Amino acid sequence: MEKTIDILLLGSGGRESALAWKLRQSERLGKLYIAPGNGGTHAYGENVALSPLDFEAVKTFVIEKGVNMVVVGNEDPLVAGIYDYFKQDVSLAAIPVIGPSKEGAQLEGSKDFAKAFMNRHNIPTARHLSVTKDTIEDGFRFLESVEAPYVLKADGLAAGKGVLILPTIEEAKKELGEMLNGMFGASSATVVIEEFLSGIECSVFVLTDGNSYKILPVAKDYKRIGEGDTGLNTGGMGAVSPVSFADDVFMEKVRTRIIEPTVNGLKSENITYKGFIFLGLINVKGEPMVIEYNVRMGDPETEVVMPRLKSDLVELFRAVAAGELSRCALEIDSRYAVTVMLVSGGYPGSYAKGKEITGIENVSDSILFHAGTKMDNEKCLTNGGRVIAVTSYGETKEEALGRSFGSIAKVHFDEMYFRRDIGADLK
Ligand code: AMP
Ligand code: GLY
Repeated sequence: MEKTIDILLLGSGGRESALAWKLRQSERLGKLYIAPGNGGTHAYGENVALSPLDFEAVKTFVIEKGVNMVVVGNEDPLVAGIYDYFKQDVSLAAIPVIGPSKEGAQLEGSKDFAKAFMNRHNIPTARHLSVTKDTIEDGFRFLESVEAPYVLKADGLAAGKGVLILPTIEEAKKELGEMLNGMFGASSATVVIEEFLSGIECSVFVLTDGNSYKILPVAKDYKRIGEGDTGLNTGGMGAVSPVSFADDVFMEKVRTRIIEPTVNGLKSENITYKGFIFLGLINVKGEPMVIEYNVRMGDPETEVVMPRLKSDLVELFRAVAAGELSRCALEIDSRYAVTVMLVSGGYPGSYAKGKEITGIENVSDSILFHAGTKMDNEKCLTNGGRVIAVTSYGETKEEALGRSFGSIAKVHFDEMYFRRDIGADLK
């Protein structure tokens, strides 16, 4: 048998639970460490109390334990340059990091960079103008040249809160001024103004070794707190895969107009990229356009994408690191997967933590991916807004959703809330 690989997975959300769950199924996996992990990830490996942004601590741990590969779940360490940190350190350079270089991570870390990249490679996206304080007048003129509503985006990372959609030009001009005056700190020193696109969104995930690529199952997430897509934006309240409108015709357009120019564009600009590319797409009358790039998997999309991936994830990551992805074939489960996120009452506003979660052990029809949980002695407690993602399979999305509801009925914590309409807008 081939040598096993000891992996350090960075992150602590439902996404990392799903990645850890999938990695654990591989015969190629040796030890799995999750840093910092959550109240459920110890089922798949060992939780390690270190911050993914503390590169020195990551280095010490990796060397001490003889870790063979680092998989980066969340964007912050990537944008902060963990890939380059490893490659530039003689004692770490031989250890593969699954994720893009610091420059590649700019596709998520700077919306201005992403827009310029798309324009250079003729990748369909909304018309835009990037402005700073000095060019705010140009910004006003651009706003006057497009139709309502108005889309303003902080250039840098803003924990998913940096996008404003304003109904009137007066509000758009006012908010533009406030963003440039530090509404999101340094993240909004540059603001990207975009033309509004109307359509239905989906998330397409690509794994690349920098030359070749594989397209993972397409998912749709549900970002608003309320049923019928109402209320405040959240990190994501549930997801479904597959997505009915992302059929072969649509996906062929995605592949030729978006994925290939992206992978080839990175290559032609000598931007090192060995990891996931997350395309946030919108279907505008059958034509796919890019809303945003992320440089990691989505959360909660991973909680439906990983369950549908039959291929060995450790082997895929090994192939990414070795530049041998073209030799791999992806095997996908044809069933639906639906995940419903159980959240703390009050989320995405303020909410209490430390509530005891009971009944988890009674669930057998679904996979529970822990997100904001922690273990306290033998008790499992809530430790975040998004608490547990409940994923089920089904021949239809309704059947999968029904299974998740059955499982949810067995789980309890005080002020638990979830959406009942995940996938309801799709055929
Ligand atoms: P982003 O962080 O860029 O994904 O934006 C957050 C959300 O705002 C997206 O998921 C869309 O729902 C919406 N959005 C962003 N850009 C546009 C646009 N140009 N037109 C319409 N909606 C948009
Ligand atoms: N679910 C969207 C994201 O992970 O950014």
